[in-house]
Amino acid sequence: MAQTLLDVQGLQTHFHTDGGLVKAVDGVDLKIEAGGILGLVGESGSGKSVTGLTIMRLLGTKRARVAGGRVLFKGRDLLTLSDREVQALRGSEIGMVFQGALTGLDPSFRVGSQMIEVIRRHQGVSKIEAHRLALESLDLVGMPDPERKLRSYSHELSGGQRQRVLIAMALSGKPDLLIADEPTTALDATVQKQIVDLLIDINRTLGTAILMVTHDFGVVARMCRTVAVMRHGRVVEQGTVNDVLTNPQHVYTESLMKAVPRLHLTDEERSVPRSERRLFELRPAVPPEAATATTPGKETVHAGK
Ligand SMILES: Nc1ncnc2c1ncn2[C@@H]1O[C@H](COP(=O)(O)OP(=O)(O)O)[C@@H](O)[C@H]1O
Ligand SMILES: [Mg+2]
Repeated sequence: MAQTLLDVQGLQTHFHTDGGLVKAVDGVDLKIEAGGILGLVGESGSGKSVTGLTIMRLLGTKRARVAGGRVLFKGRDLLTLSDREVQALRGSEIGMVFQGALTGLDPSFRVGSQMIEVIRRHQGVSKIEAHRLALESLDLVGMPDPERKLRSYSHELSGGQRQRVLIAMALSGKPDLLIADEPTTALDATVQKQIVDLLIDINRTLGTAILMVTHDFGVVARMCRTVAVMRHGRVVEQGTVNDVLTNPQHVYTESLMKAVPRLHLTDEERSVPRSERRLFELRPAVPPEAATATTPGKETVHAGK
C-alpha cells in the first residue's frame, strides 16, 4: 500500500470578522497517498481555498485562526513548525498554484525575473542556477520556446501559457505535493483540458502528488482517483471517484455532478496513457441516474444524453 503523504485531521480554520465568527474550515479530514491525486471539490465558499492555504500556513491575515486539527506531512505536523521551517518546506516539498494567480503575474516584470525571484527565495540558489531551473521547469510543463518566454512579459503569453508558468514555478523545487487551487478556472475548455492533461503527466512522470482543488466535477473525474466533497467547511463525502460518481451518498454531491456534465474516465480508462486516450475523451459523462444503475467498477459509458 502506498504511503500516506498528507494526512489532514480535524482541521478547523476560523475567521474573526466584524460580522462574527466564520468557520471556513470546520473539521476537515483529508488523506493523500504519495504520488496520488485527491480532488477537493465543492461549491464556491465551501472552504476549499482556505483548506489549501491552511496546509501551506499562508492564511495571511491576523483574523484567521487555526482552531484545531493537525496537518501531518510525512508524519510531521506542519501546524507546529516554526515559520522558518515552513518557509523551507514551501516550494521544495509542497508547491502551490494559487487561485486567481493567473491575473497575479506582474505585468511590469519579465516572466523570467519573476520565476527566478521565486526560485531563489525558495531554494537559495544563485541567479544562474535559478535561471537554469526556470528553463528546466518551463520545459517540464511543455512550454514552447522557454528561453524566449523567460524574456516575455505576462501579457505576451496566452492564458494557458501563464498557467504553465505558474505551475512551473510551483514545481521548480520538485515538491512531493502540489496544491493546485482552481488552475483551470477562467481558461477556455480546450486550454482547461490541456492543463488537466499536463497535471496528469506531471503526476505520472515525476510522481508528484496533487491536491486538485476545483468546483468542477468533470475535472475531478478526469484526473483524480479519490475525491473529497466539501460543503460549508466540512467534508460531506470522500472516496474513490468511481464510487462517488456511481453512487453519491449525498444529495449535494449529486447536484454538483449534475451542474457540470463533463467528460468522465473510468479507472481502467485512466490507466491508458494519455496519448492513447483520445477515444474515451469523446464520450459524454455518465448521467447520475444512469450511473447508479451500473455495476460499480464495471461501469459502462453511455452514449447520448
Ligand atoms: N480572509 C477572510 N476573511 C474572512 N472570511 C474569509 C476569508 N477568506 C475566506 N473567507 C470565508 O471562508 C469561507 C470559505 O472560503 P474559501 O475557502 O475561499 O471557499 P472556496 O475556495 O471553497 O470557494 C467563505 O465563507 C469565505 O467568505
Ligand atoms: Mg477557492
